[in-house]
Amino acid sequence: MHTLFWIAVFASVGCAAVALTEQWEKFKKTHEKNYPHPGTDAYHYAIFQRSLKEVNEHNAKYEAGEVTYSIKLIHLSDIPDDQWPQLPSLPISDNFVEHDISEDVEKEAIPEAIDWREKGYVTHVKDQGTNCGDSYIFAAVASLEAFNKRANGELVSLSEQNIRECYQNSTSVCNGQSPSNVIGFIVRNQSSLVDPEDTYPFNQTFGQCKFNKTGAVNTHVQGHKFFVGEDKLKEVVGTVGPVTVIIHSSPAFQSAHNGVFYDPTCKKSDKFDHAVLVVGYGTELGQDYWIIKNSWGTAWGDGGYLKMARNRDGNCHIGDWNIYPI
Ligand SMILES: *[C@@H]1O[C@H](CO)[C@@H](O)[C@H](O)[C@H]1NC(C)=O
Ligand SMILES: *[C@@H]1O[C@H](CO)[C@@H](O)[C@H](O)[C@H]1NC(C)=O
Ligand SMILES: *[C@@H]1O[C@H](CO)[C@@H](O)[C@H](O)[C@H]1NC(C)=O
Ligand SMILES: *[C@@H]1O[C@H](CO)[C@@H](O)[C@H](O)[C@H]1NC(C)=O
Repeated sequence: MHTLFWIAVFASVGCAAVALTEQWEKFKKTHEKNYPHPGTDAYHYAIFQRSLKEVNEHNAKYEAGEVTYSIKLIHLSDIPDDQWPQLPSLPISDNFVEHDISEDVEKEAIPEAIDWREKGYVTHVKDQGTNCGDSYIFAAVASLEAFNKRANGELVSLSEQNIRECYQNSTSVCNGQSPSNVIGFIVRNQSSLVDPEDTYPFNQTFGQCKFNKTGAVNTHVQGHKFFVGEDKLKEVVGTVGPVTVIIHSSPAFQSAHNGVFYDPTCKKSDKFDHAVLVVGYGTELGQDYWIIKNSWGTAWGDGGYLKMARNRDGNCHIGDWNIYPI
């Protein structure tokens, strides 16, 4: 009896330890991590264990209804979060004057909830790749995909590589810029044309501009409108279409999983460093939320999307900088 008891105890302790190292091995495999030096491996393993504990504790609170969102391990979970790669700041203040949106929105037709994905205005989730600050290209192109659907009736996935190679030059790659510049470039330099993604796919390289006018999509975009505030954001998303926003990407944002993401510390940063597309909004369990489409692949957030708290203290600056194509 005693012997059996102790065998059972040793077995379960052993199991927990094995399970943990197995999780570590799995994590490294998933995220293509390789630490040949045992000391380095041990260092990252220790941080991984802390992150795992944090995820489990946070998610227990989520299950208990004490926080509104869950988190998960991400590729950075074995690195201290103050050492995570910094995203480049995106310019938010160079002479932006608010445009008049009143002629575009139908004030009497603003729905309580909307999801442009259901209406066929949103393409598949894309992946901008390693931290190159290209979110402004992806978020601007995503808004144009929806605009093109509205203007021309067809949803076509457009080429970020077209913008990356033709708008940026090799020395300015990875400097974050304004999504409005992307739209301006397409209007002025490509006569509103953009190549489709399938003929000019995104990859991590940066080469010569290969814009091909013949096969390009004419989006008929003429420019953009800039505006500020969550109230107006609801008006535009509710009656016009998806909107490109610039927010702050906190560590919690990067690890977010399900539920309605709200990070009380996020707005304290005055860094606007990430552009995403707002594709809808609604209310769930009394929480107002925005639905955002990110460009970090489908493994991020909830299948590449995330619900972010709406009307709650300017969560991560959402609503503070918004544009849509016209
Ligand atoms: C776009 O066109 C403008 C003038 O029409 C030109 O000054 C600018 O260099 C062009 N930009 C690029 C990236 O080719
Ligand atoms: C590339 O961009 C950088 C920064 O915007 C600029 O200083 C440089 O003159 C550009 N080079 C060329 C060849 O256009
Ligand atoms: C990346 O894309 C460009 C443009 O389509 C292409 O010319 C180049 O060969 C691609 N590179 C790789 C490594 O796939
Ligand atoms: C441009 O696109 C057209 C139509 O898709 C294609 O026939 C042509 O070969 C392309 N040109 C180049 C230089 O890739």
